[in-house]
Order: sequence, then structure tokens, then C-alpha cells
Amino acid sequence: MDKIIIHGQKRLSGIVPVSGAKNSALTLLPCALLTDEPLTLRNLPRLADIDSFQHLMNQFGVSTTIAGSRPEDFGRVMTLAATRLTSTTAPYELVRKMRASILVLGPLLARAGEATVSLPGGCAIGNRPIDLHLKALEAFGATIELAAGYVRAIAPDGGLPGGRYTFPVVSVGATENALMAAVLVKGTCVLHNAAREPEIVDLCNLLVAMGAQIEGIGTSDLTIHGVDRLHGATYMVMPDRIEAGSYACAAAITGGEVELKGARIEDMEATVQALRDAGVQVEATATGIKVAADGPLRPVTLSTAPYPGFATDMQAQLMAMLCRAEGTSVLTETIFENRYMHVPELNRMGAKISAQGRTAVVQGVPKLTGAEVMATDLRASMSLIIAGLAAEGETQVSRIYHLDRGYERLEEKLALMGADIERVGSD
Ligand code: UD1
Repeated sequence: MDKIIIHGQKRLSGIVPVSGAKNSALTLLPCALLTDEPLTLRNLPRLADIDSFQHLMNQFGVSTTIAGSRPEDFGRVMTLAATRLTSTTAPYELVRKMRASILVLGPLLARAGEATVSLPGGCAIGNRPIDLHLKALEAFGATIELAAGYVRAIAPDGGLPGGRYTFPVVSVGATENALMAAVLVKGTCVLHNAAREPEIVDLCNLLVAMGAQIEGIGTSDLTIHGVDRLHGATYMVMPDRIEAGSYACAAAITGGEVELKGARIEDMEATVQALRDAGVQVEATATGIKVAADGPLRPVTLSTAPYPGFATDMQAQLMAMLCRAEGTSVLTETIFENRYMHVPELNRMGAKISAQGRTAVVQGVPKLTGAEVMATDLRASMSLIIAGLAAEGETQVSRIYHLDRGYERLEEKLALMGADIERVGSD
């Protein structure tokens, strides 16, 4: 298995292109199931998760063609055509690899009146149930059956009638599934306490471009008037705010100055605020966001929260950066239990972090030292890379397949900014 080796303490500078957002792409791709016309998505990131999703779509009889695969292009263009569905089952082998596969449930149900999807199973960052996905679909008139590790959703003859659902907790995935099911109902669907992450807005914008009728986009109350059919569209995936935030933390921990080309500051307010609280200068430029850290980093206290709060997907990267702050930071994780698996690894690099329950206390240290560390999930892996960039000596990060799920050409982009980083195959 490959490893990443970093020789730290190189100041990052320059311009880094931000890729299309993984989490947006993973909810835009299944929209192809909602129409028999082609859907073209531009600015798709080149990531293992996108490849897995493409494979899943092929399984339903959706044809996929890719353009823009030259190595010098950042971003790919994929055209998906679900002219005729040949299957409505998402098998265990594919769902197991990628939890986001559950996002085919809503659109398959809407288009075909029936969908069978393997239950995603456990996940490294907590239990991650799908009960809210199923309750929202039930509220719209679906019948849900669970058997042999699969969930089967069935619409009444003539399609889903529609209905109203209030989410007891904010869920990104459940809101996405509900939206994709709602657009083709016979009547109207109303969602309260819906997630309003920028990726949800991206999804709504694509659905509207396909002919859907959605009110309240960008708010937590969405009203969807069902339409008889959706048509094809060409759509550009939004920039990845988590990738951009990760590189901002990477630059800041090295005392560097970089421009995140293509990043949208309006999607990242909580991250920008946290960086500014830490003493990092952040400003919008004509083409992205500029991040500069020339003084010592200051400690920060914050909790993760649904958007517009501080994203749980940025918690590990911010924590790594705060290891080098002058003072004690306190981070509270409110979205997922068990999302501190990076803490023991960071401590092996000389960090002083104690995590108890949902709270982590990060005592800043004057230096981090390179070590052999192991990635446990996608964002945790990035926190180890960030720490490695600031650490004295060599850091070896193993199990980097996690990183390949979510960071397009990670070493290339970091090297572009001046990092001493390489990927090596191990025996
Ligand atoms: C998505 C993102 C993930 C991010 C997360 C929170 C994708 C592919 N993944 O994950 O990167 O960390 O949002 O911003 O976009 N919950 C339930 N029942 C459900 C669904 C969720 O109890 O049916 C709980 C979860 O356990 C969690 C909370 O709701 O505590 C939020 O999870 P959710 O927003 O659904 O996360 P995902 O959509 O899985």
C-alpha cells in the first residue's frame, strides 16, 4: 500500500487550484436517474469516490462518458444518460465501498416507483443511521421494507403523492434523498429543518435547471411542487469548500501565504472566521481566497454545527493547525461521535491534545515532530498531512486510500505550493 512521506517545515506559498466539491458531486450524479435525457456535469473532481459512484450508476443501466481527462486539466466532464433503467438495486459490494450510495434511493424511487439499496453498514466516524432518509420518504407516501440487509422503498401505483416532514436533527444526506424523491411527486412536499449546506443549494440549483420547482432554496424550509418529468441539463459542480479550508489550514500552519484559486468565500464563512480568530489573514480575491499567516497562531474555541456553523468536515484539519497555536484551544464535535481518531496520531507527533467525549482540549506546542502515522478516515488523514507539513523531520502517513477518496492530486497540489511531499509504494 502507498504511503505519503513529508519532510516538514517548508513554508507554503503560491496558488493552488480548488477542485469541484466531492460532496456536491456525490449528490449531483444520482440526479441523472431522474430523467431519460443526458445530464452533463462539469468540474467533477478526480477521486476514487466519484469513480465508485460512476460504477454504481452503470449498474442501473446508466451510460457514462468522460471528457477532459488530460492530466493538465483539473476537473472532468461526465455525461450520464439514464435513457432506460435496467436495474433498481444497489448491491452490497458497491454500497459497502461508499456510504453516499444511499443517495440513489430517492431518485430511483421517484423515477421507477421502486428502489432496493443495501444498508450502508457501520462507518469509522460513528453509527451513521439512515432512519431520517426513510422517514422522509415515508412521509411522501413510500412504503419501506427492510430485509436481509437491504432497504426497499416502494411508491404507490401512479407515483408518490407527496407530504410534509420535519427533520428532528439536521441531516445533509436525508435532505438530499428527500429532495431528489420530491421533485417528481404528484402533489407537493414540504421539508422543515432541512440541511442548508452549500452542497444542498448546489443540488437544488441543478434540480431547478432540470425543470424542478423548489421554493426556499438556501433556507431550512423547502417546498417542492412535483412536476411530471425532468429534462437534461449541463451543470458545473461547485468548488470544494472543505478542500479549500484544508489547504488554508496547511498554509497557515507553515506560516505561509497561498491563494486558493476558485474557492468561494461566501460558502466558507465559519471556516474563515475560525482562521481569522486564529490570527490568519483571509481575504477574497478576484479569483478565489488569499490566506496568509505571518505571526504566531492564536488558540480558538468552537463547536461544529450544521451549516452555517463550523463544518464537522473541517474539525480535524483545524485541530492540527491549532496544535501550533500559542495557547489552549477547545473544540467540541456535535455532529458525529467518535470523530477524534486523529487525536492519538497527532499526539504521536508531539501534539498535546486530550479528548473526552465530544470535547477536545488542544494545548499548543512550540514544535511538532515527524513520525509514522496512520490515516483512519478522510479528514483525519488530512489532519496528519497538515501536522506533517509543520513537523520537524520526516512524517510517513500510511493507509492513504482514505485521502484518495477526497483530495484530488493531493501531493501534486501541495508540492505546487512548495511542500516536500511524495507518494511511495510500499512492499
Ligand atoms: C454528509 C457529508 C459528510 C459530512 C456530513 C455532516 C456527504 C457525502 N457526506 O454526511 O462529509 O460530515 O454530511 O456535514 O455529503 N443522522 C441520523 N439519521 C439519519 C441521517 C443522519 O441520525 O438518517 C445523524 C448522523 O448520525 C449525524 C447527523 O445526523 O449525527 C448528521 O449526519 P448527516 O448530515 O446525515 O451526514 P451525511 O449526510 O451522512
